[in-house]
Amino acid sequence: MRQTHYLTLLLTLLFALSATAQQKRTIRSGELWPDGNGRHINAHGGGIMKYGDTYYWFGEHKDDHTSDALVGVTCYASKDLVNWRNCGVALSVTDEPGHDIERGCILERPKVIYNKVTRKFCMWFHLELKGRGYNAARYGVAVANRPEGPYKFLYSQRANANTWPVEFDEQAKEIADTLVAAHYQDWTPAWTTAIGQGLYIKRDFGRGQMSRDMTLYVDDDGKAYHIFSSEENLTLHIAELTGDYLHHTGRYTRVAPAGHNEAPAIFKHEGTYWMITSGCTGWAPNEARMFSAPSIWGPWTQHPNPCRGPKAEITFGGQSTFILPAEGHIIFMADIWRPRHPSDARYIWLPITFEQGKPVVQWRDEWDL
Ligand code: GAL
Repeated sequence: MRQTHYLTLLLTLLFALSATAQQKRTIRSGELWPDGNGRHINAHGGGIMKYGDTYYWFGEHKDDHTSDALVGVTCYASKDLVNWRNCGVALSVTDEPGHDIERGCILERPKVIYNKVTRKFCMWFHLELKGRGYNAARYGVAVANRPEGPYKFLYSQRANANTWPVEFDEQAKEIADTLVAAHYQDWTPAWTTAIGQGLYIKRDFGRGQMSRDMTLYVDDDGKAYHIFSSEENLTLHIAELTGDYLHHTGRYTRVAPAGHNEAPAIFKHEGTYWMITSGCTGWAPNEARMFSAPSIWGPWTQHPNPCRGPKAEITFGGQSTFILPAEGHIIFMADIWRPRHPSDARYIWLPITFEQGKPVVQWRDEWDL
């Protein structure tokens, strides 16, 4: 009897030890990142939401051959940010012809935030309608009762139709109202000035503003914001969300007009808002940009590239997607895209440190959370 007891104890111990040995403990950016089933995590352009003691990672499911959405938004769960369990498809594309999220659409950069008042999980993403390239430039919204979903698609549209940015006073509105896009040649100084004055805001006024690369941010006061590339990816917009996090309120501001920023990722540190973005070179990496502001409404000031180390001038081969303050770190997350083999895209996760009060992203081959 006693022998059986010891044997059970020994076996339990051995099992616990081997389980611990199997648990990954470090982050190795750029390498394959196996989930609990040993398969490379498929959640690209993603973001992370903490609910209870669990982190949920949402991202684009990528196919082996195409970047079009054939599956939808995937979800993974973890308690330590290193070992992830595949929770399956959180938001599925549909086979209904003509549906906004019909299989084969482009569904990118999904982010989820939890609404404490409605107790709903709210997902926003960049949506391009099937077969129309990147012309639709919409955002989509879906909602769920549980973190891992299933998420119910609510709607997709362009942003803030018939609304001027908050900083446009009567005079600025009058000037913008006179601008005609056809009168300008792209990339000329006159065009750049006109973009700043709202050339494309005016052009898209009735139809709504373009909405592509995006993230969500919930501030300390519970107010949430949708930050997205608008105006032909020339200007970032920060739009306030309604209390249920499912719509825009109509209040929005612009960041770096004509600055050509994509891939916004944001965090707040000691009262300052910091945003890291990329330039616009499609799947090819470029130099990261950084901005700061004392309020989400600006004014936003640009700073030099925060990246340090090999390939720092091309964001280590990646493009920003999210910044997560967690486990005593502020984690910068980026995607190393592989457009010829999209599912093999890799992840960059690096801790942000501060030098003279400014964020720095130093490359590390491996680091311990
Ligand atoms: C990138 C963008 C990605 C994807 C890609 C398509 O600039 O950040 O999310 O849209 O372009 O070329």
